[in-house]
Amino acid sequence: MVAGKRILLIIGGGIAAYKALDLIRRLRERGAAVTPVMTRSAAEFVTPLSVAALAGEAVHQELFDLTQEAEMGHIALSRVADLIVVAPATADLMARMAGGRAEDLASTLLLATDTRVLLAPAMNVRMWQHPATRRNLATLQRDGVLTVGPNEGDMACGEFGPGRMAEPMEILAAIERALAAGPLAGRRVLVTSGPTHEPIDPVRYIANRSSGAQGTALAAALRDLGAQVVFVTGPASVPPPAGVEVVRVETAREMMAAVEAALPVEAAVFAAAVADWRVANAAASKVKKGSGGLSLDFAENPDILASVSRRGEGRPRLVVGFAAETDDVIAHATAKRARKGCDWIVANDVSPATGIMGGSENAVTLITAEGAEDWPRMGKDEVARRLARRIADALG
Ligand code: C5P
Repeated sequence: MVAGKRILLIIGGGIAAYKALDLIRRLRERGAAVTPVMTRSAAEFVTPLSVAALAGEAVHQELFDLTQEAEMGHIALSRVADLIVVAPATADLMARMAGGRAEDLASTLLLATDTRVLLAPAMNVRMWQHPATRRNLATLQRDGVLTVGPNEGDMACGEFGPGRMAEPMEILAAIERALAAGPLAGRRVLVTSGPTHEPIDPVRYIANRSSGAQGTALAAALRDLGAQVVFVTGPASVPPPAGVEVVRVETAREMMAAVEAALPVEAAVFAAAVADWRVANAAASKVKKGSGGLSLDFAENPDILASVSRRGEGRPRLVVGFAAETDDVIAHATAKRARKGCDWIVANDVSPATGIMGGSENAVTLITAEGAEDWPRMGKDEVARRLARRIADALG
């Protein structure tokens, strides 16, 4: 609920600034007050008059504005809000935030504030992917800054890829989550989900029967407790939940890279059914039939769960793995917990008779340092909600 809340909205200088106008309107419709701040370059894209008219409040633009300083100093301005939203957050504004600069009103407010900050990044795809921006983003996330988007799609500059600012309704949902007082509010968590596809040639692949249902339910349950969820998913058969940061991958190695890029997080849940092997001799062009038999060599894939569990610096405080077993579930899962070095294992019996793999129900055993705990058979959504609550309790 945003009604009765005050949002300090910092509008950066990018073409996506026009969406900030719609965001103001939607916030106001829902009873929120908006204090608008514009950078100098933002005023090249939308006029302060439009912003002020929609917000119903004066726009703050200059650091050294005696009239405004007399009415409300910039330090006071940085403290008035329940949440600070930067939309669009340009590459330059993010760099200045990450570096702790205070050279204009926007960056000074961001440095002076003790209020939580939500960024809606928007920039050219190359700028978004540049190592400097990746570094700045990681720094800001470590500092506790929340993000929404960017989305992938056609860009105003004619390129295609990630960099489009999230839509106003998505930003609004992220604002609502940031303001909701769930036990995981502001906590960044990672969930992997779905199968991986390991190519044989450009058109064929090896996969498994994971639907991604349990990982998806878990991401949604963590989101509902207020967490900022990074959802790294293989090609699943269920759509990813709304309101989480979705990173799509195909292979185990891509999943490993996406997980590394998503760190740091406070908790990581590895629900993906990662292929243990990939085809070492995958063909660069389609293998034709009639060329004799096909023989595949396999190479072992990286174990993402074990590798994250064994990290020294940057290890999430809580690492949760899944174990799909067909016999001796508890013994195997307990051994797996030790072998992988994770904190918890959620074990389930996936022998065909249970109908769990690809089904809507799950019967799990939670294995922790304290021992094994059998949960009754229940819907995957309910397993997800219970597990999310346990994660919230463990993070304290
Ligand atoms: O070793 P096994 O595949 O049975 O372990 C299952 C757990 O390990 C799951 O949590 C799965 O997401 C994770 N895993 C992984 N990377 C792999 C294999 C499994 O993260 N290469």
